[in-house]
Amino acid sequence: MRIVHTARELRGLASRPSRRSGDRASRAVVMTMGALHEGHLALVRAAREAADEVVVTIFVNPLQFEDDEDLERYPRTLEADCALLEPLGVDVVFAPSLDEVYPGGPPVVTVHAGAIGDVLEGAHRPGHFDGVLTVVTKLLNLTQPDLAFFGQKDAQQVIAVRALVRDLSIATRIVPVPTVRDADGLALSSRNVFLSPVERTRALVLHRALQAADGAARAGRPLEAVLAAGRHTLSEVPQVEVDYLAALDPVTAAELEPGYVGEAVVAVAAQVGATRLIDNVVTRIGPVLPEAPAEA
Ligand code: PAF
Repeated sequence: MRIVHTARELRGLASRPSRRSGDRASRAVVMTMGALHEGHLALVRAAREAADEVVVTIFVNPLQFEDDEDLERYPRTLEADCALLEPLGVDVVFAPSLDEVYPGGPPVVTVHAGAIGDVLEGAHRPGHFDGVLTVVTKLLNLTQPDLAFFGQKDAQQVIAVRALVRDLSIATRIVPVPTVRDADGLALSSRNVFLSPVERTRALVLHRALQAADGAARAGRPLEAVLAAGRHTLSEVPQVEVDYLAALDPVTAAELEPGYVGEAVVAVAAQVGATRLIDNVVTRIGPVLPEAPAEA
């Protein structure tokens, strides 16, 4: 595994043409901000399965933090991260400095997430998705991958990155990877370490609420009933301060209106003590479809 810190070194390694050959893509990228956990490693394993060459980027992107303190506090654990990546067969770790990514300070030209950046997580963190899309664009340009793997846990980020490659004609396929959960259902997140044991137990209500919403959707209940099922479950743990439980259009991230039929992302965000957690489930709203007849 090569660990490189500059675009120049990265280009030097990229001697192999990065284009699809048959069913296999030749290069996949997994973008991270480090402090890796099993959720990131699942992305790397999926990338390893799919491509000949796997590049993992590790860069804490200041453009997507609104709060300087939050940015300062963000763990930087390059050595430990590399120790986790090496056994997974990663070919290249690209860990650039701030100066390497933004020479001369913050970029003048940036990417705007449009309406996707204004709702839900975007409303809570103004400018966050612009910052994410700006660095994702840079990292796609620098690594030139055929495939890029992103965790479904950050559902709105997946929607935004898919819109980016579609709208700006970037020739990389975005592959979402299912959320990795602890045995009790809690979605893995680098923020979970901040939860006290009591808060961690309370936080499980997020997953239970999504299961309740998904159960209602699978039973063919309308959107309003799906959301009500999720919100009712959340209300069972009043110490958890709910920011939203909402159903989003999987392509635009717009909040879905009553009467909607089709695929939906039911997303939840809540404050558990001092820690803000998000989670989601992809489901289908509408009448239960008859099962297709078994093939003879
Ligand atoms: O999901 C993340 O860790 C970050 O938003 C990403 C995609 C690496 C961009 O900085």
